[in-house]
Amino acid sequence: MNIAWDHRYEIGIDRIDFEHRIFLGLIKDLSDAVEGGQPRTKLSRIIDEIRLYAAFHFLSEENIMIDIDYPDLQPHREEHARLLSLLDDKLHTFVAEETSDGSEIVEFVFQWFALHTTQVDKQIAVHLQQA
Ligand SMILES: [Fe+2]
Repeated sequence: MNIAWDHRYEIGIDRIDFEHRIFLGLIKDLSDAVEGGQPRTKLSRIIDEIRLYAAFHFLSEENIMIDIDYPDLQPHREEHARLLSLLDDKLHTFVAEETSDGSEIVEFVFQWFALHTTQVDKQIAVHLQQA
């Protein structure tokens, strides 16, 4: 899977773009670790790192939305909470089921990242431009 930064992930708010690069870097770390056959304990630590970074990054994004009186804060927040809870489920399943190799988690988080940044986060920048 080609997990590389692409200009379409850029929304035009420096702080968010910077954090998105780190977020994608962690997804790439997981992908490389899965492809390199790293032990499951290592994979679960990276999944945990992604989960913790996502929680931090969502707080940053929500604080920016609060600062600019973003009208769609609530649904955006719910979307963040939903991802965190799905990541928790996936981490638990990964630890419990030895048949899972982590590639499904890479696919899931990467698809979520690509869709969320280009569609949901982008709206924050659109709002800022209009304000
Ligand atoms: Fe977001």
